[in-house]
Amino acid sequence: MSNEQNYPAVRTVASTQSEMTEIVLPNDTNMLGNLLGGRLMHFIDLTGAMAAYRHARTHVVTASMDHIDFIQPVRLGDLVTLKSSVNRAFTSSMEVGVKVWAENTRTGAISHVASAYLVFVAVDEHGRVQKAPQLRPETPDEHRRYEDALRRREHRERENARRKEAKRATQAQEGPGAIEP
Ligand SMILES: CC(C)(COP(=O)(O)OP(=O)(O)OC[C@H]1O[C@@H](n2cnc3c(N)ncnc32)[C@H](O)[C@@H]1OP(=O)(O)O)[C@@H](O)C(=O)NCCC(=O)NCCS
Repeated sequence: MSNEQNYPAVRTVASTQSEMTEIVLPNDTNMLGNLLGGRLMHFIDLTGAMAAYRHARTHVVTASMDHIDFIQPVRLGDLVTLKSSVNRAFTSSMEVGVKVWAENTRTGAISHVASAYLVFVAVDEHGRVQKAPQLRPETPDEHRRYEDALRRREHRERENARRKEAKRATQAQEGPGAIEP
């Protein structure tokens, strides 16, 4: 089989779909017995990276995690399932959506607990930015996410420009030691 057959230049969303399930252990929780937000973000980053790897078939780095909603707490002992897929590929970057559910192991009740959007960038083994393959949406939901991803990218770019401008203005006023994210 040729490399083109193995790794076609245009990929489907289905070929990027990834899933991971974890059990929430005492080390993952706060004093209230709820899953730590940072631990959940780690799971989200990993599951998002799996979809990006499946799309790019090269190294990827997380460029941003720009939208995350923690809808309800996840309890000690719950099973956490995360599902991800690439929403859209641009030149070297890919927007990935991750959705998270918690399952109560005794009752079997499953609830949606978090959602996030991340941007990964394809890079080579030296960390140099690489072109990513294009993504072909197929279903109506995939087309909707594809269009929404462009709007979020434009919003992200406006926010990045606004933050850079604010940083420049603060440094001009207070000098290079000023604290401005
Ligand atoms: C992400 C990174 C590779 C971008 O490098 P860069 O020199 O800014 O590259 P460019 O300006 O050419 O941008 C490359 C792509 O990254 C995107 N990008 C850069 N910064 C971004 C940000 N903060 N959020 C979203 N996308 C971003 C650009 O939009 C561009 O996308 P496109 O090619 O699809 O149009 C670089 O900033 C980096 O290595 N960051 C550290 C990543 C890291 O350590 N992550 C945590 C561990 S994995």
